Amino acid sequence: MTGERVTDVPVVSLAGVDKDFALPGGATMTALTGIDLDLRRGEFVSLIGPSGCGKSTLLRLIGDLTQPSAGVVTVNGKPAPQARLDRDYGMVFQAPVLFDWRTVEENVRLPLELTGQERTARDARVAEMLELVELPDFARHYPYQLSGGMQQRVAIARALTFSPAILLMDEPFGALDEMTRERMNSEVLRIWEQTGITVVFVTHSIPEAVFLSSRVVVMSARPGRITRIVEVDLPRPRGVETRESRRYFEMVTQVREALRSGEGSGTSDDSLASIERAEAEGLTG
Ligand SMILES: Nc1ncnc2c1ncn2[C@@H]1O[C@H](COP(=O)(O)OP(=O)(O)OP(=O)(O)O)[C@@H](O)[C@H]1O
Ligand SMILES: [Mg+2]
Repeated sequence: MTGERVTDVPVVSLAGVDKDFALPGGATMTALTGIDLDLRRGEFVSLIGPSGCGKSTLLRLIGDLTQPSAGVVTVNGKPAPQARLDRDYGMVFQAPVLFDWRTVEENVRLPLELTGQERTARDARVAEMLELVELPDFARHYPYQLSGGMQQRVAIARALTFSPAILLMDEPFGALDEMTRERMNSEVLRIWEQTGITVVFVTHSIPEAVFLSSRVVVMSARPGRITRIVEVDLPRPRGVETRESRRYFEMVTQVREALRSGEGSGTSDDSLASIERAEAEGLTG
């Protein structure tokens, strides 16, 4: 499929969202403030910003793993807790949370077992998911027999078993080497195109964000805020040529500058350096 398939119906909507955390001793820490964000159905949105700016917290708010201190989070037109009950989203984290004593297919099957789905339908769904992530030959393997990238594909397969409308991914490829990360980027785009799912993707890598996204949400720290949203107008499908195109480099520069201009509002030298390191790896790797 080519082109964007976004519509104007927001699949995720955050309005006036703040998130405070209580600190020991009674003080509070404002992790996020004044977050207004609408995600269109079928788009691929990345969240980027310095360490501690609240990217994971924002993802967790959408996934109802934590609740806002102020404001409203709406997912698929319902309050986030209801969307969670309805399994409207799947989540993938930096470390693929797999059970070592279960084979690949048993790991993917777990959510279906927990909901008591009937066996034939369940096995068919597991097979379909393993096809989707191109691991059917590894169904009987155990996680330790797989590479990091393959383990992450198992985690993606499991997150997609209920055909969620939204896939929330928190630095899913952060632990992978650059070559594997690029391959996984193409994989995730293929899955996104095949399923029509909306993806919210947290990353530290500017090149990764630009390559994948329809829009890049740039955040600044202390307290975490959205400072800019960059529309990425690179044509799809995206591949090797994308990474070599002039427009791609222009977009990378745009996002880098957006990050820099948020710097005054609290980005530490360390976190900026880590972003630039990730970026340099992406451009040279
Ligand atoms: N459960 C918690 N209790 C207290 N403070 C928290 C909690 N979770 C997050 N924070 C704080 O909220 C801020 C944002 O954290 P968050 O994990 O969302 O940042 P992040 O942007 O994902 O960072 P990184 O890029 O390092 O993963 C940080 O200052 C963090 O210390
Ligand atoms: Mg995080």
